[in-house]
Amino acid sequence: MATLGELALTHTAMDGEQLAHVQRLALSWRLLADLSFSDLLLLAPVAGEEGHRFVALAQVRPTTGQTLYPVDMVGTVVDEVSRPLVTRSWRAGQMVEGDGTVLAGKERARIQCIPVRHRGEMVALVTREMATTMSRRPGELERVYVEVYERFAHMIAEGSFPFGQDEIEPESSPRVGDGVIILDGEARIVFASPNAVSLLHHLGIHAYTPGLSLAEIGFAEGAVGRAMRAGLPVLEEIERADTSILMRAIPQVERKRTTGVVVLMRDVTDLRRRDRLLMSKDATIREIHHRVKNNLQTIAALLRLQGRRLESKEAKQAIRESERRIRSIAVVHETLSRDAAEVVDFGEIVRPLVREVEDSVSSPDARVRFVVEGDPGELPGEVATPLAVVLNELMQNAVDHAFPIGADGVEAAREGGEVIVRLRRLDGELRIEVVDNGVGLPEAFSLEESKGLGLSIVQALVTGELGGAITMTDDDGARVQLRLPVATTPRVEL
Ligand SMILES: Nc1ncnc2c1ncn2[C@@H]1O[C@H](COP(=O)(O)OP(=O)(O)OP(=O)(O)O)[C@@H](O)[C@H]1O
Ligand SMILES: [Mg+2]
Repeated sequence: MATLGELALTHTAMDGEQLAHVQRLALSWRLLADLSFSDLLLLAPVAGEEGHRFVALAQVRPTTGQTLYPVDMVGTVVDEVSRPLVTRSWRAGQMVEGDGTVLAGKERARIQCIPVRHRGEMVALVTREMATTMSRRPGELERVYVEVYERFAHMIAEGSFPFGQDEIEPESSPRVGDGVIILDGEARIVFASPNAVSLLHHLGIHAYTPGLSLAEIGFAEGAVGRAMRAGLPVLEEIERADTSILMRAIPQVERKRTTGVVVLMRDVTDLRRRDRLLMSKDATIREIHHRVKNNLQTIAALLRLQGRRLESKEAKQAIRESERRIRSIAVVHETLSRDAAEVVDFGEIVRPLVREVEDSVSSPDARVRFVVEGDPGELPGEVATPLAVVLNELMQNAVDHAFPIGADGVEAAREGGEVIVRLRRLDGELRIEVVDNGVGLPEAFSLEESKGLGLSIVQALVTGELGGAITMTDDDGARVQLRLPVATTPRVEL
């Protein structure tokens, strides 16, 4: 569907400022539809056919009443035959009200046309449309709302509504149905809707008397004062008696004179409680990862103690490797404990993993240089954990096997031993390479027949758990390549 801007550019002769004005109107007129219990259409003259044909740029339905329009009207073009009132209002530059038909003559409606002015120039019309069949006798609430709406309609016609600032109302912004208090030009209460009265009760305000100001009934008046002084809407959240109230004060200003203030208010206590719960849930998740990490480190430390007491070289070695594997898993939990997202930036895991392996190289002579290239992006925790173990094995292998002590007792690593870890995302896959410039794989090496525990773990995790593939080749050193399918996971918003 075309946007308001696109429709205006293709059908009308509006300039940029005028377009911005009607866009602001369409962002803030929900309130008017609700106060008038009517559908509103924004009609702009089709370029070159001013007064004859109009295109509907926007539409809003009331949440307080029934809509006339089950269908979307945006983009439709109406002409003077089907909408004589619109043409009349446009030509006269005045508000016009009368009976007419809408929806290709199928529905009778009460129609009011309001010129939309910007800096004195007429740029569009707003029509307020309401079925004539819904002739319920209006009560006080209806009467007051429509009066307030009429004042806004005059503001539209004189160019003072919408307000001259871009407003981005939050999703939780109060609506007419949530609770309204209507104040007059001196900020005295004229009317409070039943929902507003209940809200005041929640705050412990039981007596509300028309004619008093909000301060006089014991309610916060700050937003109202600021809105009146600035001539602009003000959004404020107040907390009282365990109740959070979001209120929006909208001043009504005609010919520079404040004629009233509409105060919309909504009880957002439950909403805020949920926010706090979610925040504490985040904190709990982080805390759990932190504890898992600590526990894994304790297990690793226990193994190390155990290893020291052993005599057998082989047993010592086995314990040491187990300790290293456990530490690589702890690295993932450490990262997950830093923010509560269910995804981790894997790049942040690679660095500490490299450090773990570097630390395991005991002899200072055996300096192996690690280079990490590329950006693996974010991975879900359940992928990051096995992958950390896999990378750890592969890097450890390079350290263990690529640079053996030669016949002369000199380690090959002395001559610029280097291990490159490359990670990148490509076509929904994560591609990882661990390349060293060491002695290369043993002759007749085959991954399938390899008996080592390290590569068995790698194979089980990559092909089993992660659903990926491994190739190991010999190319002036060993080159291990992994391809893992990873969905480009959108961040999970809690
Ligand atoms: N980067 C490499 N350079 C040379 N040879 C390698 C390399 N990586 C693996 N190999 C060979 O593959 C064999 C199997 O490796 P694997 O990790 O499965 O076992 P391991 O390292 O010997 O023992 P473990 O990892 O269980 O301590 C190694 O013994 C080694 O011969
Ligand atoms: Mg190994």
